[in-house]
Amino acid sequence: MATSHRKETRRKASVLQCFFFFVLGALAMAASMAALHASSSASSSVWRCSPLADDDPSSSQVVDGGGEWGVVRTRGAQFVVGDDGRPFYVNGFNTYWLMVLAVDASTRGKVTEVFRQAAAVGLTVCRTWAFNDGGWRALQKSPSVYDEDVFKALDFVVSEARKHGIRLILPLTNNWDDYGGKAQYVRWAQAAGADVNLTAGGDAFFSDKTARGYFRRHVTAGGGGGRRHVTAVLTRVNTYTGVAYRDDPTIMAWELMNEPRCFSDPTGDTLQAWIREMAFHVKSVDPAHLLGVGSEGFYGRSSSPARLQANPNAGAALVGTDFVRNHRVLGVDFASVHVYPDNWLPAGATQEAQLRFATSWVEAHIADAEGALGGMPVLFAEFGVSAKAGAVFNATSRNAFIEAVYGAMLRSTRRGGGGAGALLWQVFPEDTEYMDDGYAVVLPRAPATAGIVAAHSRRLQAFNSRCEWSCRWGCNRQRNTPEMTKEADVV
Ligand SMILES: *[C@@H]1O[C@H](CO)[C@@H](O)[C@H](O)[C@H]1NC(C)=O
Ligand SMILES: *[C@@H]1O[C@H](CO)[C@@H](O)[C@H](O)[C@H]1NC(C)=O
Repeated sequence: MATSHRKETRRKASVLQCFFFFVLGALAMAASMAALHASSSASSSVWRCSPLADDDPSSSQVVDGGGEWGVVRTRGAQFVVGDDGRPFYVNGFNTYWLMVLAVDASTRGKVTEVFRQAAAVGLTVCRTWAFNDGGWRALQKSPSVYDEDVFKALDFVVSEARKHGIRLILPLTNNWDDYGGKAQYVRWAQAAGADVNLTAGGDAFFSDKTARGYFRRHVTAGGGGGRRHVTAVLTRVNTYTGVAYRDDPTIMAWELMNEPRCFSDPTGDTLQAWIREMAFHVKSVDPAHLLGVGSEGFYGRSSSPARLQANPNAGAALVGTDFVRNHRVLGVDFASVHVYPDNWLPAGATQEAQLRFATSWVEAHIADAEGALGGMPVLFAEFGVSAKAGAVFNATSRNAFIEAVYGAMLRSTRRGGGGAGALLWQVFPEDTEYMDDGYAVVLPRAPATAGIVAAHSRRLQAFNSRCEWSCRWGCNRQRNTPEMTKEADVV
């Protein structure tokens, strides 16, 4: 399976590349800022009700209407927000390491910077890790023991997001070893005397009683365990805003885990039982926020042959997950899918084949969200291709991939379908390229990409701001102004 390849490439940093981007960036800076400005100004003339009225980042706070900041919820296959239940179609992004950057005063400003740049192109949702288990700058140093400085850093991320009109999707742990993840929980369980199998890549996390207990307490500190100040993520009270995480509308959704897989049980039963247990647990503590699984969207062994055809490779059916089954669990509010043609398809897949896969993968999941899942929004919570030297895509041709995903989303949105949003993997502030995994987009240095992102934001914004709760999609289409039809037909 190619994911290990992606995880590996994500870690590689090229000093040469960094220097190249630095020089290029300095040269391109003035031009790109001008382009950002131009695209932003154009929006106000085309879209009368577009809230992206000017370049002032603070104005992005009106992104979902008259300054109201409500909890995002679902209605049928849509996300909605506000008393009137306006649609909330998502153009979003990932920047997974914000909490780590926020720990140090010297890098904290990068958090603000990336939110400002994202808001300037109309991005309204950021997905970022709310976990770091064991290891360097851990949030959870050992089971239920938190580093207050790191928690304050997460508080800062939440507080800054709010200031920029950006909501957050927060996964609660990782399938992979980065930032601790399930293997760290299994090591903790073993250290406490649990009889766990350490050779199964941390899969004991899903079945071992001790590890499951640790995760439940990470979500919400149970009885307090005799420790004062025992807190957990959902019950955390933000030191900047005074608002408990579970009451904060800035948080759009929790995800149980980033990309859960359980290779050791390809029937999927083990992971399914874990999702059931943890979804119930999260909802019992925080019924207000949306909950997602965090899955990649593979169809598992029990899926029909037609569904299995949609998988990128034969191995995808054997990782212990199943898109439809996993999202039928009580308490799961929306479906989650990732889109990585460049490391999922067999080596040698052409750009054309990768674009074709991206479109059909998105469409297959939208169809299932509307059909088999009974009308549930589906979020493409990570989509990206690497543009590193030697990859199939480069920073220019990558734009075709981004447009393919946006195009499929828009076709769904126009007919009121279940495609609720897509989040680019991944947006970086400047001078953090040393962490580039090949997938990074630095918006001010990628004016063409920034323009594509901004155009998609404007189209979604038109749907979000024009459609009242009483509006039916059929009538809405007819009521569209000529400009809107023209703009929407561009893709
Ligand atoms: C531990 O996990 C590995 C890999 O899944 C498996 O081959 C092995 O049989 C397991 N050992 C035990 C004692 O269950
Ligand atoms: C990017 O790749 C395309 C082909 O897919 C090629 O035409 C173009 O020249 C490349 N651009 C750069 C900057 O390498």
